[in-house]
Amino acid sequence: MSKLEGEVYYPSKEVVARANVKDYDSLYERSIKDREGFWAEEAEKLEWFKKWDKVLDDSQKPFYKWFVGGKFNIVHNAIDRHLKTWRRNKLALIWEGEPGDLRTFSYHALNREVSSFARILHSMGVRKGDTVTIYMPQIPELAFAMLACAKIGAVHSVVYGGFSVEALAERIADARSRVVVTADGGFRRGKITDLKKTVDEAIKRSPTVESCIVVRRTGHEVYMESGRDFWYHDLQQLPIACPDGQECKTEVMDAEDPLFILYTSGTTGKPKGQVHTHGGYAVYTSTTHRYVFDIKEEDRWWCAADPGWITGHSYIVYGPLINGATVMMYEGAPNYPYPNRWWKMIEKYGITILYTSPTAIRGLMRFGDDWPKRYDLSSLRLLGSVGEPINPEAWRWYYEVIGQKRCPIMDTWWQTETGGFMITPLPITPLKPGSATKPFFGNEVAVVDDEGNEVLVGEEGKLVIKNPWPGMARTIYGDPDRYVQTYWKDYEKQGWYKTGDSARIDKDGYVWIIGRIDDVIKVSGYRLGTAEIESALVSHPAVAEAAAIGLPHELKGNAIHAYVILKQGFTPSPRLEQELKDHVASEVGPIARPEDIQFVESLPKTRSGKIMRRVLKAKALGKDVGDLSTLED
Ligand code: PRX
Repeated sequence: MSKLEGEVYYPSKEVVARANVKDYDSLYERSIKDREGFWAEEAEKLEWFKKWDKVLDDSQKPFYKWFVGGKFNIVHNAIDRHLKTWRRNKLALIWEGEPGDLRTFSYHALNREVSSFARILHSMGVRKGDTVTIYMPQIPELAFAMLACAKIGAVHSVVYGGFSVEALAERIADARSRVVVTADGGFRRGKITDLKKTVDEAIKRSPTVESCIVVRRTGHEVYMESGRDFWYHDLQQLPIACPDGQECKTEVMDAEDPLFILYTSGTTGKPKGQVHTHGGYAVYTSTTHRYVFDIKEEDRWWCAADPGWITGHSYIVYGPLINGATVMMYEGAPNYPYPNRWWKMIEKYGITILYTSPTAIRGLMRFGDDWPKRYDLSSLRLLGSVGEPINPEAWRWYYEVIGQKRCPIMDTWWQTETGGFMITPLPITPLKPGSATKPFFGNEVAVVDDEGNEVLVGEEGKLVIKNPWPGMARTIYGDPDRYVQTYWKDYEKQGWYKTGDSARIDKDGYVWIIGRIDDVIKVSGYRLGTAEIESALVSHPAVAEAAAIGLPHELKGNAIHAYVILKQGFTPSPRLEQELKDHVASEVGPIARPEDIQFVESLPKTRSGKIMRRVLKAKALGKDVGDLSTLED
């Protein structure tokens, strides 16, 4: 290999010796020359009720279809097929609650729990194609509920437990769910999050909801509406059976049938429901997980994300279970009650791979090296990062202090829309801190200008993906036009997917992600839309108009800054500022709480009335505001 430029970390002989892929270049070349052949070979590793007729149908671009004609169910692959092997008794899930309680499930036990949940859903009238909204803390039942939906062919829509009333109500309404699954609450930083109360409020705004299944977690008193709300443990006692008997069968689905909807924030107030499917998504998540994290039978895999976001869907639940891995799940905050919590769990459970976000790493780094150094972290062999660019200082700390210079860091770039890793190292890849390195097999990426010309080496431009891949979202739920407009319109001629990120590619072909160039703000790795924050602000009686932007923040990556025009009769005050921050937190969720609110007389707008957030941002950062020719005033 020719010499690479900059700060480079080469993998050790041990890492290379055990890696699932030994030669990136040759497999990459093959995967590009014969993309369909590559993905067919990967799909063969899963069990199909009936094999596909065609790997890729691109006759209705950009509505690509994968493994057309194939009969499949992701749960058959994530659970059922393992029961026929010794994995039946392997640990599927190790879960630790924030108060320290522990629950473990073998694949056999996982099947029992998922089947029981599936029976209950079925008894509630949930059928193939129905959408169930799941709003839960990080407890095993969250995963059981997801898998139970998939098992009977229902579509799950998980709403992150940190979202509040408005966000939840909007997502229930868009998905038209009749059934909501929730819990009384969860534990976070020693406190109870009152999920059921949020659900009650949201249901008041959601006429479609008929019943609500409530899992008991915290045991605190909650309101239960008779005829609508049911305790999960009560339902479990009922002698209900599926039509096919006590053993609830896994439904035979088409490969392209929807598996779940997951909402992402968009430019307008309405969140976009990304639709993922059974077949392609299963192939993509399991393949990326197996190659990038070099999964072995003896691994204990810990993806410390929340299942309520795509990272949890793909890499806590589906990818790892398809690969028959042992999955670690933890309910609470990383530094509760002390900043040793994670390191203690790694030692206690012998975790071999840790996958987390730069925000979590930065948050734990600030407590110093002594906390992790008190623990035996020698079980770790690989590390991962996701959600936002990782700054080199955090990368080095993660590598040196946590990975003890032994564990390569897989900085995986991807999105809710992509379903799985798109640009990522493999364990054998020489690493540069802060770069997600190279495209995963089958993918071709480029950094281009508005016309689609590749920019010069090292220059910033727009990141595009040039090809379809099995894990891609198939559409936006109920709004295919918006899917085309948002992702495919800008490079329609070339047929490329617009990621919404800017990036640069260096001389060695390494990709460096810079950040979002649209109206998305990544706060602590969580994805929020400026529109959601703005519409929460204007729903307050004092606010006439509002604009939100993200500005760099040492710990969170970005923090929300809002500009507010007050209605006549209201005057700016620190109290009102506080009230508005609380209002956003209660409408959208605590993660959306603005860092700072400024009261202003006007906002920069285009002649067509669109707020020019880039002008606000440039001004706040003391940068050149750029082209102002479209500014109205
Ligand atoms: O800006 C990129 C950033 O997260 C965005 C996608 O957010 P979401 O759909 O919530 O999915 C996050 C988890 C996959 C991207 O457009 N992003 C994600 N991973 C990275 C990243 N930015 C830099 N480096 C990454 N590894």
